[in-house]
Amino acid sequence: ESTLGAAAAQSGRYFGVAIAANRLSDSTYASIANREFNSVTAENEMKIDATEPQRGQFNFQNADRIYNWAVQNGKEVRGHTLAWHSQQPGWMQNLSGSALRQAMIDHINGVMAHYKGKIAQWDVVNEAFADGSSGARRDSNLERSGSDWIEVAFRTARAADPSAKLCYNDYNVENWTWAKTQAMYRMVKDFKQRGVPIDCVGFQSHFNSGSPYNSNFRTTLQEFAALGVDVAITELDIQGASPTTYAAVVNDCLAVSRCLGVTVWGVRDMDSWRSEHTPLLFNNDGSKKQAYNAVLNAL
Ligand code: XIL
Repeated sequence: ESTLGAAAAQSGRYFGVAIAANRLSDSTYASIANREFNSVTAENEMKIDATEPQRGQFNFQNADRIYNWAVQNGKEVRGHTLAWHSQQPGWMQNLSGSALRQAMIDHINGVMAHYKGKIAQWDVVNEAFADGSSGARRDSNLERSGSDWIEVAFRTARAADPSAKLCYNDYNVENWTWAKTQAMYRMVKDFKQRGVPIDCVGFQSHFNSGSPYNSNFRTTLQEFAALGVDVAITELDIQGASPTTYAAVVNDCLAVSRCLGVTVWGVRDMDSWRSEHTPLLFNNDGSKKQAYNAVLNAL
């Protein structure tokens, strides 16, 4: 196969990309994105601050630009993200307790209703665990509203759109030996045992010198899949874009039957949130990097 998406489709998977609405008018960007990828995640446009800037007033203008571009070009869409401590609008940052709980529920219902039946996977909850060795939840206004906020979010999401796969998504959970990974594992195991609706776990996979790729990532994916959830690599970027590391990540996904696909977090290096890391698959002039060839060959 000659594109990432077509190559991934040979094994029933997708190869996706994060898209920024304001870059779709850049023809180099849009042509690469359309040619190579068959799944799309909005890099910022479906987040809470973008979709509900004032309480109860939803705005899907930029989210729909990405959604419509994706669907018109035959791509599936990952929804990102409904409940998160970051990129909350000001009005939500100022809420706590039961008022915040209700606002979270209303937000999930409002966004999921707009896209009902149209989203392959939703990142229902993002980044709820703390970094480091504690294995604790991250402190946030959502966590302080009651630690059951995560299961409330998933139950709300299931009722709002029963056709979407519901994912928990986080970073620094790729290394099986890390406390954060184990904490996330205990939560997913508990949810499955108690019937809290969860279908998938997203591993962001922002690899860099501080949190490098480790070959036990495959074990992590296998252990989560064994709990009865799908897994996905949702925001892949690798500092320096080592071709061997990119190939290893792809091979880890291919080795796990419940791995749905891989999403890279941007098109060209200049499009990356960490552009100084030159972490992506395309050069700024749109040419393919060595890492691109390594990924295509691995798929
Ligand atoms: C990042 C975007 O790439 C940036 O443009 C934005 O300024 C901040 O958020 N984890 C996530 C993503 O789940 O939503 C983040 O995206 C990167 C880390």
